[in-house]
Amino acid sequence: MKAIILSGGKGTRLRPLTYTGAKQLVPVANKPILWYGIEAIVAAGITDINIIISPETGEEVKAKTGNGDHFGARITYTLQEHPGGLAHAVKMAQPFLGDSPFVMYLGDNLIQSELRLFLDHFKAQKLDALTILKSVANPSAFGVAKVDAEGRVLHLVEKPKIPPSNLALVGIYFFDRAIHHAIASIQPSARGELEITDAIQFLIDSSKQVEARQLEGWWLDTGKKDDLLEANRIILDTCLSAAVEGQIDESSQVIGRVQIGRGTQLINCTIRGPVIIGSDCYLENCFIGPYSSIADQATLIDVDLEHSVILQGAKLENIHQRVVDSVIGQRAHLKFAPQRPKALRFLIGDDCQIELA
Ligand code: DAU
Repeated sequence: MKAIILSGGKGTRLRPLTYTGAKQLVPVANKPILWYGIEAIVAAGITDINIIISPETGEEVKAKTGNGDHFGARITYTLQEHPGGLAHAVKMAQPFLGDSPFVMYLGDNLIQSELRLFLDHFKAQKLDALTILKSVANPSAFGVAKVDAEGRVLHLVEKPKIPPSNLALVGIYFFDRAIHHAIASIQPSARGELEITDAIQFLIDSSKQVEARQLEGWWLDTGKKDDLLEANRIILDTCLSAAVEGQIDESSQVIGRVQIGRGTQLINCTIRGPVIIGSDCYLENCFIGPYSSIADQATLIDVDLEHSVILQGAKLENIHQRVVDSVIGQRAHLKFAPQRPKALRFLIGDDCQIELA
């Protein structure tokens, strides 16, 4: 069994963060989203992994993720020259896959369940394809499936205006080699992509064994800001263990589950977990409330923050109101005058969202 992780694409919905970096490397609880997928695959016993990368962000993904030693896996990379669709990515990975069955994991998806449960079912039933479904409130934003009472997939459609059910396709699929013939047989969709949903539909129409299992527990597609904050909240809630390595002065208070990295300094701060603060950060006169993740080398002075994600090297100073539900990009600098400001001066990049509520 092999695995491919799709980490190409354009990441338009997470702009501006994705102008300068891969969306799959945006951190959730200070760890790139992509790494959760790698860890889940390795935990299911699959160690031969190929990551699909794009020309724009591929080098960054490679540099950060490496050859797999760190994960106990062998990781190789396939360049997809343009984002031709999920099925196109499988086509690009065919030299790696050969005739092996494989799991295909979308690099911006996070799930709570163990992959092994699905993998065992896929193998035991000798299926040609196994998809995972989750009922959602907004099925039109996803691939949508119609299934019969036994879990056999009858019909799949990508981002339908009128969805045939509320069952969305989770971005994790198990395939046998029959998928390659299916991909070779389909045409690009109206949006110009080779859709994996069309390839699976081809398998269904060819009377192949295609099943779906419903996902228990949470599933997050971290494509947008609110999804990212929600993923951050859930991971901090369920996976964070307390560990304090930095320096905390006597007037600071650390309450609940809090992780603080090496070289980080806290002066007169209150941290109320669950919170993760990376290495080499400097925090002075701050309140950091639940569900906040602060990446390495960030500086926060006179800031009151909650339910937010601060990326590496960002600097926040003298913010008079509480910062909530926010994502602050790498090296961004947000500074107010020590007194209430009389004027606001901005240098804001394309597609930023500022809300002075
Ligand atoms: O998240 C689940 C959904 O993922 C499914 O319900 C949909 O059926 C499926 O098409 C997909 O929809 P998205 O619109 O979320 O796909 P997105 O373009 O965001 O791409 C998903 C991942 O695959 C992302 O990590 C980028 C990568 N990708 C995407 C394309 C189009 C590639 O590596 N190459 C590509 O050509």
